[in-house]
Amino acid sequence: MFVYIIISIVCLLVIYKIYFKLTVGWCRCNVCLVGKTVLVTGANNGIGYETACDMAKRGAKVILACRNEKRAKDAMRRIIEETDNKNVSYKIVDLGSLESVREFAKEIISCEDRLDILINNAGMQAPGIRHMTEDGLHPIMAVNYFGPFLLTNLLLDLLKKSAPSRIVNVASFAAKSSKFTKLADINTFQSMYDVYSRSKLCNILFTISLHEKLQSTGVTTYTLHPGAISTNMTHQMQPGFKNILDFCLYWMFKTPIEGAQTTIHCAVAKNIEKYSGSLFSDCRIVELYKTAKNPELAKGLWSLSEKLVKLE
Ligand SMILES: NC(=O)c1ccc[n+]([C@@H]2O[C@H](COP(=O)([O-])OP(=O)(O)OC[C@H]3O[C@@H](n4cnc5c(N)ncnc54)[C@H](OP(=O)(O)O)[C@@H]3O)[C@@H](O)[C@H]2O)c1
Repeated sequence: MFVYIIISIVCLLVIYKIYFKLTVGWCRCNVCLVGKTVLVTGANNGIGYETACDMAKRGAKVILACRNEKRAKDAMRRIIEETDNKNVSYKIVDLGSLESVREFAKEIISCEDRLDILINNAGMQAPGIRHMTEDGLHPIMAVNYFGPFLLTNLLLDLLKKSAPSRIVNVASFAAKSSKFTKLADINTFQSMYDVYSRSKLCNILFTISLHEKLQSTGVTTYTLHPGAISTNMTHQMQPGFKNILDFCLYWMFKTPIEGAQTTIHCAVAKNIEKYSGSLFSDCRIVELYKTAKNPELAKGLWSLSEKLVKLE
C-alpha cells in the first residue's frame, strides 16, 4: 500500500512537472541590442544573471550592478566566457543604502552616454530583521523598493536622453496577498512575508505611477512576476524551512533561465510600448492584482517615497 502511495505521488509530480514545463512562457523575440546599454541590478545570481547573459548575447553593453565585488567579477567573467561579448562590466552598489545608490547613479551618469534598458531585478528576503537601515528604512523595503525607486529617479534623465528606453521592475505574485493599505505601515515588520509582499506591491504601484509620469517621454515601464524559481532567494532562511523550500523549488518550479524570460520579454519585445505600466507573467500581460488597484495608495506612496529617499 505504502509503495502504491509513493508511486502515485511520484507520477503526479512528473505529470505536474511536464505540464509546468509546457506552460512556461518563453521570450521568442530575437531583437539585437548592439549599440544599446543595459543595466541589471542583482546580476551576479539567479534571474538577474540569466537576464544579463541574455542581454550580452544580443550584443548589448551590459553593466552588472552588484553589491559584492568578488561575486560581480565572477559573474562578469562567466558572462563574457559564455557570450563572447567583452562589453560586459560591473559596478558596485548596495541598494540597501541610499548613499551607495546616489554614488552609483553619479558614476553611471558620468561614465555612460546612454542607458536604454534599466532592469531593477535585485531583491532579498531575510527572516527576522527588525532593525532599520542607516536611512531609517526596513532593510527588505530598502533593497527591494526604496533603493530601486531612488536609482530609477536618478537615472531618468539619462533614460529620457536615450529614448525609446525601458524600465523593468521585477515584482512578485506575493504582492497579491500583501496587507499593505496604509502608508504609515511602510516600514513596519510583522513577518518576513509581510515586508517582502509589501515591497513587491510597492514595485507594482511604483511602476503604475512611473508610467503616468513618463507620458510622452519615450520611456516606458513594465512590472512582472517571474514565477517561482529555484534560486538563491532562500539562502538566508532557517535551514529546515530552506531545505524544504529548495526541494520544492527545484522539483516544482522554474529554473533561473526560465524565470528570466518575462524580464527579458519586457526588456526587448517589440510593440509592447502601449502596455507601459502593465503587469506581466509568463511573457503575457496579466490583470493587476486587486491590492495594486489603488490609485490613491500609488499616488501617496510616490510622495512618501520621495520624502523618505530625500529626492529633490
Ligand atoms: N526566486 C523566486 O521564486 C522569485 C519569485 C518572485 C519574485 N522574485 C524576484 O526576482 C528577483 C530576483 O530574485 P532571484 O530569485 O534571482 O534571487 P537571488 O538569486 O537571491 O538574486 C538576488 C540578487 O539581488 C542581489 N542583492 C541582494 N541584496 C542586494 C543589495 N543590498 N544591493 C544590491 N544587490 C543586492 C543579490 O546579490 P548577492 O548575491 O550579493 O546577495 C543577487 O544578485 C527579486 O527581486 C525577487 O524578489 C523571485
